[in-house]
Amino acid sequence: MDNIAWGELPFGYFKTDYNVRSYYRDGKWGELEISSSETINIHMAATALHYGQEAFEGLKAFRGKDGQVRLFRWEENAKRMRSSAQGIMMAEVPDELFIKAVTTAIKLNERFIPPYGTGASLYVRPLLFGSGPQVGVKPATEYMFLVFVAPVGPYFKEGFKPVNIQLVRDYDRAAPLGTGHIKVGGNYAASMRPADRAHKEGYASVLFLDAKEKKYIDEAGPANFFGIKGNSYITPDSGTILPSITNMSLRQIAKDIGLNVELRHVAAEELGSFDEAGACGTAAIISPIGKIFDRSENKTYEYSTNGEPGPISKKLYETLKGIQLGEIEDKHQWNTILK
Ligand code: PLP
Ligand code: COI
Repeated sequence: MDNIAWGELPFGYFKTDYNVRSYYRDGKWGELEISSSETINIHMAATALHYGQEAFEGLKAFRGKDGQVRLFRWEENAKRMRSSAQGIMMAEVPDELFIKAVTTAIKLNERFIPPYGTGASLYVRPLLFGSGPQVGVKPATEYMFLVFVAPVGPYFKEGFKPVNIQLVRDYDRAAPLGTGHIKVGGNYAASMRPADRAHKEGYASVLFLDAKEKKYIDEAGPANFFGIKGNSYITPDSGTILPSITNMSLRQIAKDIGLNVELRHVAAEELGSFDEAGACGTAAIISPIGKIFDRSENKTYEYSTNGEPGPISKKLYETLKGIQLGEIEDKHQWNTILK
């Protein structure tokens, strides 16, 4: 591809050649359509626009060391998108349609898959929303599923360098029995005001507490949280966070490399006892946390004073990346090699 500075790509929208779409009408999904348009035609009374009937996914494809293209754990994203659809009463996308759409979008945009060794990858964004009209608050009868892709670099501009995070107590991203565990747009809308404030105050992201007791760590705006204490990988068990596929993979890798894994409530006051901390997700990969500033309590927790990630975060990161790039044996069969 001409003139893409692969090594300098930010995490963001990037125009590619094609996207794919399918419409749910009369109780069934239609044939996959290929489009070269970046826009969609949408009914002004679509439920997505008025009542937030919308969910999305994020997964990545990597050009490996051997030149092959690997898609990471797509079955988990398909499953989570079904769970999101159930949560807000949308038509579910069957696995066959999900993977066909994802692989078609990747293949049609093959020239945008970043070369091995550049640190960049192809981000795949499936989107599902209520496209049919309603004025009363009820589910649409028509849905649209689409997939676009974008070559991306690191989510946080620091890359694999410690980022500073702000713990917020005066905003919640999700209600205790609400939609925090599914990937719907409303959760992200709710996170924007505190995230913007954190950015303006010099922080890369925010860390939310559980909305009910305001006692336990929930997650960051776009990523799960983990802490390392001695030989343990500790990460919040919460019904109001997105079950991160990256975190699930890191828990397995942690076990594989001999760490103890603790999936449990993590009290905010425990932050002071961690040796390392990080944010993890498809976009964030592992973003080591340098320090956490508890804004309301005016307290700072520090994990990296030399600007470098801790040794365990580094090992986890290298193992995950190694598997995704075909450098390390994929013993749990997480990758699908695209032909
Ligand atoms: N938490 C939130 C709120 C997210 O948006 C994401 C990104 O998808 C994650 C966690 C990480 O999830 P995953 O590792 O499946 O990308
Ligand atoms: C992801 O990691 O895929 C995300 O969805 C994070 C963010 C861009 C919302």
